[in-house]
Amino acid sequence: MAGKAYELHEGVAVVALDNPPVNGLGLQLRTAIVAGLDAAQADEAVKAIVLIGAGSLFSGGADIREFNTPKATAEPTLHSVIRVVESSAKPVIAAIAGHCMGGGLELSLACHYRVALADAQLGLPEVKIGLVPGAGGTQRLPRAVGVETALNMIVSGNPVPAAQLADTALVDRIVEGPLLEGALRFAREVAGKRPLPKLRERAAVEPDAEAFFAFARNAVASVAKNFPAPVRCVDAVAASVSKPFEEGLRYEREIFLQLVQSPESRALRHAFFGERAASKIPDVPADTPVRPVKSVAVIGAGTMGGGIAMSFLNAGIPVAILETKQEALDGGLATIRRNYESSVKRGKLTPEKLASRMALLAPTLSYDDVKNADLVIEAVFEEMGVKEAVFRKLDEVMKPGAILATNTSTLDVNRIAAATKRPQDVVGMHFFSPANVMKLLEVVRGEKTAKDVLATVMQVAKKIRKTAVVSGVCDGFIGNRMVEQYLRQALFLVEEGAAPQQVDGALEKFGFAMGPFRMSDLAGNDIGWAIRKRRYVERPRFVYSRIADRLCEQGRFGQKTGAGWYRYEPGRRDAIPDPKVDEMIAAYRGEKGIAPRRIEDAEIVERCVFALVNEGARILEEGIAARASDIDMVYLTGYGFPLFRGGPMLYADMVGPYNVVRSMRRFASSGSGDPSFWQPAPLLEKLANEGKTFNG
Ligand SMILES: NC(=O)c1ccc[n+]([C@@H]2O[C@H](COP(=O)([O-])OP(=O)(O)OC[C@H]3O[C@@H](n4cnc5c(N)ncnc54)[C@H](O)[C@@H]3O)[C@@H](O)[C@H]2O)c1
Repeated sequence: MAGKAYELHEGVAVVALDNPPVNGLGLQLRTAIVAGLDAAQADEAVKAIVLIGAGSLFSGGADIREFNTPKATAEPTLHSVIRVVESSAKPVIAAIAGHCMGGGLELSLACHYRVALADAQLGLPEVKIGLVPGAGGTQRLPRAVGVETALNMIVSGNPVPAAQLADTALVDRIVEGPLLEGALRFAREVAGKRPLPKLRERAAVEPDAEAFFAFARNAVASVAKNFPAPVRCVDAVAASVSKPFEEGLRYEREIFLQLVQSPESRALRHAFFGERAASKIPDVPADTPVRPVKSVAVIGAGTMGGGIAMSFLNAGIPVAILETKQEALDGGLATIRRNYESSVKRGKLTPEKLASRMALLAPTLSYDDVKNADLVIEAVFEEMGVKEAVFRKLDEVMKPGAILATNTSTLDVNRIAAATKRPQDVVGMHFFSPANVMKLLEVVRGEKTAKDVLATVMQVAKKIRKTAVVSGVCDGFIGNRMVEQYLRQALFLVEEGAAPQQVDGALEKFGFAMGPFRMSDLAGNDIGWAIRKRRYVERPRFVYSRIADRLCEQGRFGQKTGAGWYRYEPGRRDAIPDPKVDEMIAAYRGEKGIAPRRIEDAEIVERCVFALVNEGARILEEGIAARASDIDMVYLTGYGFPLFRGGPMLYADMVGPYNVVRSMRRFASSGSGDPSFWQPAPLLEKLANEGKTFNG
């Protein structure tokens, strides 16, 4: 339904929820709903009222654009709207199509009746941002669909199609054909019926409530781990059974207000908004025209090239993949096929999908077969000479307007762009390994990268379901530049007295998916070694621990050599502490005259995480990242930083920049690691002095 906010249809008032794109329940819409209801009450000709969403959906819930603004809490609040609807003297019918989520579903639960299209999606996703539904959802939904179904919906946050709820009081009728017509028909049928049914007057029944909720709490707690909201959802639903309705509502409100204040909810909301913010580039307007990308070429079928190709094939985009030798091409193709076959074995992919994806892949040794691609991504060896040669060739053969991207991790994108006569078309697309799995994509903006190229790449990233974050050109871009400082501290800590497994354990307890030494063993210790060797020349005045070099000199490159900071049994990935590593560390300390000291886990966490924060602050100052939340998105999606802490910059905000700086000064004065590193970045120092935070 489009058009007017209030219309009369032969005795039925139709009130439209009209606030594109998702009919979010913003102040203006809330006001309009109340006005519509008032007009309908006042008009004697009106016998029933239909609430229906404009466009193809009912409502996505709260209007996220109003979050943290006075409008969010201005009257009429959603609670007030719900009161008006529920106490209407004339029946109110929610007509539901498309999405009916969060506050949208809570509003419809306050209506006297609900009719829906079979494929409408109904859900309460608040748990996903660390909250419980706050407008009666936890009390009315169990009364409508039963305790167990409601609990599942509220704890998971996942929507359920209306057809599945058709024999519950949530959906009074499934409408076939046009929704409005069906809703009007239904409205006329029920117009004269009294008393008006209200979900609040029904009982939520669970015969063995105590045992049921005890079991649910345990099951939910074991999955929810560091997040409090799912268990609190169980508490709220339990109240629908054990408490009278009004008391249950107050209890829900209490839990909601507690959770809003919780660091975990703050972290989840930060990530939710951070993801959206990252897709916006300050000087690239949202309406910048984009270039069509219907076909992609990948140069190099190695580890990254294969994974990148799969990301596009998975999205149904055809890919030509080029190698210099048949053998390498065959090897790359075989790996891609093997990956898909293992998904088929695990039941994650159908054999038909495997076939259709492979059919979209065109292997080649000739640039003739890639020259018409709209986007080409280079993933050849990490050597400037090789990359420059590839880009010269691309410049020669690619059609005008094609986007030329490099997957380099460490090389200067501006120099690569300078190998072409079209640097405006060159951009970095830094995928993470395995590229078909990892969410993060750093989009590296060269000095000359055109705005429409950036806008296009950001849109392409969405299509292949990546979280894209823009980074300026610098060594390591956002993620690796920061991680270098984190790893440097980890090495200093081992030098000073910690065991690698203590460092890993402390950071894993903090919430990292993997500690730095296990991570290095997985990625290959030789990679860090190569970078450090460069650093010793480039940054002679920097202090580095040489302890990891010793490890590499023994050929302990990590999992791939069966030994690194840990040892590995053949065919297994379990990291087993190795006395040989302890001996090597002890010998190193002996040579350097370092008396090992006992190091607390708290110091390990602070030094490693604040190293990220300080480098992150420099990255912000230099404009390499546009906003602090971009840095957090990089760390949440690419580096296993714990989601419940929201990323390094939000974590610093929660600790307080003032306290971060104090700890850094303590590290500097105790001579830990490289004391000069602990000079706070000017931005961090400024925030500390002014009592401000990175995220405002
Ligand atoms: N491995 C990672 O974790 C990772 C992560 C992000 C980015 N990268 C970057 O991705 C790029 C590729 O890394 P990788 O790990 O896939 O390396 P890789 O050695 O597995 O693959 C490189 C492939 O490129 C091919 N190749 C070399 N020169 C070529 C040329 N002139 N034309 C066509 N093909 C050519 C090689 O035959 C090889 O198959 C590098 O720039 C690297 O820095 C790697």
